[in-house]
Amino acid sequence: MIGIFDSGIGGLTVVKEIKKRFPDHKLVYFGDTARLPYGTKSHSTILRYSKENVGFLIEKGSTIIIVACNTASAHAAPELKKQLTLPIFDVISPAVRAAKAATQNNRIGVIGTPATIISGAYQKEFSAPFRIFSQACPLFVPLIEENWTARKETYSIARTYLEPLQGKKIDTLILGCTHYPLLSRVIHDIMGEEVRLINSAQELTRDLEAYLKDTPMELARAKDEYYVSDEPYRFENLSRSFLGRPVEVKQVNILTQRQ
Ligand code: DGL
Repeated sequence: MIGIFDSGIGGLTVVKEIKKRFPDHKLVYFGDTARLPYGTKSHSTILRYSKENVGFLIEKGSTIIIVACNTASAHAAPELKKQLTLPIFDVISPAVRAAKAATQNNRIGVIGTPATIISGAYQKEFSAPFRIFSQACPLFVPLIEENWTARKETYSIARTYLEPLQGKKIDTLILGCTHYPLLSRVIHDIMGEEVRLINSAQELTRDLEAYLKDTPMELARAKDEYYVSDEPYRFENLSRSFLGRPVEVKQVNILTQRQ
């Protein structure tokens, strides 16, 4: 079973791609909505939360872990890969690979949470001839979790964040947070249609495909499971419109009442 976690709804952008390619693979998803956002927290806190989330997914029977969160990929994935024997997929390396393949002028932007940008996880993956321009967008995650993806207030905030990237002549922009594909329209409207937006989910699915070719998984044709750490109704509503089908979401306290 494939275990996926994010701080909230963002990991569903990854679920969507994986389900397109592997409709019969059972997923268990955990959205840590009670402790969201991760992107404004410290390295040690993000690492601790991530370890707890992975512990829960393993208890649920996951044999592959997808860290569907850039913030956790930057701060926890290296440590998780060292400590655990099961395969851990993060979202940073697929995005880097896709951006390098997409750019024509080697000028690449990356936007993400403050914790992702401060970690330098993306910046250190690029050297000459690539030029990388980064920008933290702390309010994007709360806006998306609030489903404010097309409001004029969101456009105004996005303009403020993206302004430093305009004029840098980037032709490729990495959406360095799994929530951000939900703002693709807004970002395209501000940056221009010609700027290629990179969403790591497709490239990550290719990595998963390569892995599963060598290590096929037994297919459990049971329903996917979705868990959140806070009141499920908002997640349920957003996920229904986002995935195009209703999902049943259960609230769980991963630290006490593992169910
Ligand atoms: N989707 C997470 C990411 O990719 C959002 C982190 C947050 O909760 O701030 O970084």
